[in-house]
Amino acid sequence: MCGIVGYLGKNEKKEILLDGLQELEYRGYDSAGIAVIEGEKLNQFKAIGKLENLREKTKSYHTEGFGISIGHTRWATHGKPTELNAHPHLGAYSYVVHNGIIENYQELKAELQAEGVNFLSQTDTETIVHLFEKNHKTNKDVFSSFEATINRLEGAYATLLITEADAETIYFAKNGSPMLIGFHSDDVYFASSDTPIIGKATEVYYLEDGEYGYAREGVVKLFNAEGEKSFTKQALTADKISAQKDGYRFFMEKEIYEQSRVMGETMMGRVLDDSIVFDELDETFFKGIKAIKICACGTSYHSALTSAYLFERLAKIRCDIEIASEFRYKEPLLTDDTLFITISQSGETADTLEALKMAKRAGLKSLSICNVDNSSIVRESDAAILTRAGIEKGVASTKAFATQSMVLWMLALYMGQQRNTVSKKVLKTEISAMLHTPKALIVTDELHEKLHRLSKRYLHGHGFFFIGRDIFFPLALEGALKLKEISYMHAEGYPAGEMKHGPIALADSELFTIALMPHTMHYDKIKSNVEELSARDATILAISPLPFDLADDFIQTKYSSHPMVEFFEMMVVTQLLALEISVRLGNDVDMPRNLAKSVTVE
Ligand code: M6R
Repeated sequence: MCGIVGYLGKNEKKEILLDGLQELEYRGYDSAGIAVIEGEKLNQFKAIGKLENLREKTKSYHTEGFGISIGHTRWATHGKPTELNAHPHLGAYSYVVHNGIIENYQELKAELQAEGVNFLSQTDTETIVHLFEKNHKTNKDVFSSFEATINRLEGAYATLLITEADAETIYFAKNGSPMLIGFHSDDVYFASSDTPIIGKATEVYYLEDGEYGYAREGVVKLFNAEGEKSFTKQALTADKISAQKDGYRFFMEKEIYEQSRVMGETMMGRVLDDSIVFDELDETFFKGIKAIKICACGTSYHSALTSAYLFERLAKIRCDIEIASEFRYKEPLLTDDTLFITISQSGETADTLEALKMAKRAGLKSLSICNVDNSSIVRESDAAILTRAGIEKGVASTKAFATQSMVLWMLALYMGQQRNTVSKKVLKTEISAMLHTPKALIVTDELHEKLHRLSKRYLHGHGFFFIGRDIFFPLALEGALKLKEISYMHAEGYPAGEMKHGPIALADSELFTIALMPHTMHYDKIKSNVEELSARDATILAISPLPFDLADDFIQTKYSSHPMVEFFEMMVVTQLLALEISVRLGNDVDMPRNLAKSVTVE
């Protein structure tokens, strides 16, 4: 995803920008660029691909003395990854970088084009710089021209603008995409997250939505809809690792909290008002495809299992799921009318990669769903959809699972659109539920506190059964995997209806059952299954929007009209439960024993 760095001051600007952008590399990008104004000199460089390409292009360029500068790494949303589409975008005498999406850019672009403005790129961002220069033509004051510009923008943005019309000032605005301002003596820094400025700035201010302003001579003026406002800087840690944790105790905890935000990024530019779009897939991609086979490991396998229900229900296409390490040696029968999908957070899992190679050798078309651009699995696949979760450091996968499940849901709907298996009404309902998902993923203090308190009752016993039906069965598997990875306690996921076919023999008060009881899906059936367990004295932790009398512990989720929204809300509960149990047991949450983040051996 895109990253922004800005700097105003006397130090070498090129290095500050490039080093800062390097810190944001993990977010994924396909091009990068910088623009610097020093006195009368304006310089701009752009390169597609990795930052080394930009470093190479700028190797004989050095900055001296006071100046203003902005830099950007771009993850293409509107228009292909080309130099012309890379930021900073140039007007006649100004430059802009931007993260987010300007939703009304087409309307603004048409308006500007009608007045004779020539656009060089296919991006939404370029409208900002032209709109600014248009405003500046009639209103000579730079700041009010900038203010008038951002007042016209709809959508999410974090943006920096520099202009020869005011060569000592950086203009900024934030709405819906993160941006912060760093301070150290007379130096002012901007960035889309704090890692690029750690070790450089000593104080920071995290901008809020609707705030904008400018930095000049080391001083920042801040405004919002009510006018100029004061703000309080806070100390910025010099410790990169703790900064990367953003104040959370563990990366896993941070990543659980991030899910609501990253889900927005996963959907950005893909979930539109009345359709799903994947720029990554050309129109003929699914031509001749009659079935889907998905291969993955661990958590990624669980998101695959969830998606099988969605592909068959929404796209009416047969979907088989296989654990990659099993698939490799079973001599599978493969036909070239099957789309082979691999799912992987890291893109480097050896079994998944080998399964992909096998499928390719058998002539199957391949698609990967991955969090890491340019990883082996992405490079090996015919097409790839990135999940855009951002780097995941906790070994126990959380936000990768959430974003994989979302991409797969979107893909099932996308195929449903193409295959005419979803009506307009269904499409609308699904899209509205998707857009509601980030809300369902918000971790409230109340929920976290409740799970913290409740976790003390679950530190012993002879095992956990996570049970659910339909898509809540793979979620039960995932809940159990999370718990065993970081608590080292035995946990199993089971289809609720299967308990009486054997596992119920284990039921007693020391068997903890985590029951996923959504009200949108087979509630009465799962209720009966849980009653059977309760009758055998099993300890029940019920997760449901509907109060359940037999529960020993109860987490009440919200009423939602869509199973996937309930799915994501319950997912958060199971993740926090595992986290809190692990913390109480004194385990290493982020690096559990015996596990590695990326499993590159078979
Ligand atoms: O990077 P991948 O998604 O391919 O990794 C697959 C599994 O190794 C991974 O999901 C593992 O199960 C995690 N530790 C789960 O939390």
